[in-house]
Amino acid sequence: DRSVKIAPSILSADFANFGAEIRAIEDQGADWVHVDVMDGHFVPNLTFGPPAVKAFRPHVKTFMDVHLMIAPVDPYIEAYAEAGADMLTAHVEAGPHIHRTLQAIKATGMQAGVALNPGTPAEAVADVLDLADMVLVMTVNPGFGGQKFIDLTAKVRKVREMIGDREVHIQIDGGVDPNTAPLVVAAGADVLVAGSAVFKGGSVEAPEVYGRNMQAI
Ligand code: DX5
Ligand code: ZN
Repeated sequence: DRSVKIAPSILSADFANFGAEIRAIEDQGADWVHVDVMDGHFVPNLTFGPPAVKAFRPHVKTFMDVHLMIAPVDPYIEAYAEAGADMLTAHVEAGPHIHRTLQAIKATGMQAGVALNPGTPAEAVADVLDLADMVLVMTVNPGFGGQKFIDLTAKVRKVREMIGDREVHIQIDGGVDPNTAPLVVAAGADVLVAGSAVFKGGSVEAPEVYGRNMQAI
């Protein structure tokens, strides 16, 4: 279903070769590049920060979708704007003032996303849907790629109903593959993050595997 965007997560890419990996997935048809920032505090893993995002920027021709699994968020917004992120997604669980955080992201000119962990009900974003450009529904507990999909299609449907006729994306993140993608698209998702399902079996030497994996989703 090509009205749905594919956003490969570089968390599953070769950490010693991000530039080549980003070019490979974009050459093979990626719509966005999903960048998983983890601070070892909000989630039990640590990946990269603003300097890495700045280094990725010249290689990204499409759209750099930065998923902040960090707390607090506000002190770092400016740094990610300077690094060149196109969109910044903050977790509603990352602090007490998600409305202010989204306002601060928008004030830099970036698009703003709000993310929900599997245990957080859809209603938690009800009052920021006029501000957010996207709702990210996590379908794994954040921190790692390659985990098993948690079926939250009812929650996706609820979020789509709450959004109504606003222009707000629903992004699904975690365990998305050819079997799970149709479930969430039917429920109203229009952006699919996939890490292991895109990168598995491929490499920068065999990027056509990435293309085939993306087509299958
Ligand atoms: C997990 C990240 C996801 C992850 C997806 O905390 O937010 O973006 O990289 O990886 P897969 O698609 O392998 O579940
Ligand atoms: Zn993510």
